Amino acid sequence: MRREIAEQADVIAGLGADPTQFREAAEEAKARGIRFVVFAGRGTSDNAAVYGEYLATILAGLPAGLAVPSAATLYRAQIDLRDCLVIGVSQSGETPDVAEYVANARQAGAFTVAITNAGDSALGRAADRTLVLGAGQERAVAATKTYTAQLGALALFWGAWVGDQSLLDALREAVPAALATAVRLEERIRRVAALLRDADRLIVTGRGYNFATALEIALKVKETCYVAAMPYSAADLRHGPIALVEPRYPILLLAMAGPTCSGMVELYEELCARSAQVVVVTDTDVDFRAAVETVRLGRVVPEPLSPLVAVVPGQLLALHLSLARGLDPDRPRSLRKITLTR
Ligand code: M6R
Repeated sequence: MRREIAEQADVIAGLGADPTQFREAAEEAKARGIRFVVFAGRGTSDNAAVYGEYLATILAGLPAGLAVPSAATLYRAQIDLRDCLVIGVSQSGETPDVAEYVANARQAGAFTVAITNAGDSALGRAADRTLVLGAGQERAVAATKTYTAQLGALALFWGAWVGDQSLLDALREAVPAALATAVRLEERIRRVAALLRDADRLIVTGRGYNFATALEIALKVKETCYVAAMPYSAADLRHGPIALVEPRYPILLLAMAGPTCSGMVELYEELCARSAQVVVVTDTDVDFRAAVETVRLGRVVPEPLSPLVAVVPGQLLALHLSLARGLDPDRPRSLRKITLTR
């Protein structure tokens, strides 16, 4: 897991070096007059799909949502997917309900795209177009480099869709540089892990593009540390779950530059007023002096790409919290690399 976290800068640089497949797929999809986008994925790939929803909606102005796989695979619903783009996301390409959803969607009139690390897979064969991550084999059960590669692929696709050359350029240079810098935060994260070693619960919160980051960090912490980590959008947290927060409740708060930042700072203040134990991850220079730790991401990338970098402290936290608790992050109990859900 540690090695694969460190590989992410190279994986994204490799992906960003040649955006051709993403541009071609985006052009082909656009030519179909797409009106709605549906994303399908499980686990980490589902979290990448959430990021895709935000890109499609914010950048391209298209309504977007997550698939309901059981509607197709168990209820056999006839779903009208004409004028829809369906994007299946799966590292292995072998998660059965994701591949089946995409195969059904193609039959139901959707234009289908697969994003996968294994082009020759059930998902790859099911879709009209397959975008390959080229991340190299991922051995750890806890996905890391394929998650950032999925985010990179989605950003390249939607960047090409809207013709935003600055996003494509940043994926080639600024993001790999920021990832390389983020990996160097390891010692600081080890300190955070020591602080949280005995925690049995954790709230992870972010908003906008970084809601996906909160989902993914919480999943990593659950898988590798067996801590009940709950992800919330900052807005949802304030609509009820915040009642859980009592003194010393551990919170990981993502305060990234952009339109969500002021709300995250307000939430931070509210949580500190409740004497929660708040760890902040930020790429801003806001002074979070009441936080127990502030992890600063040195290099700022365009906000839509910030989830590729913001997830790294969370991945490192999962790794080091697992080790601090005497666990083996490479052998999470009762999990396999491929889970067969139908
Ligand atoms: O191969 P897939 O991307 O379809 O796998 C989906 C999930 O099983 C996978 O992401 C799982 O959640 C990982 N253990 C996450 O670290």
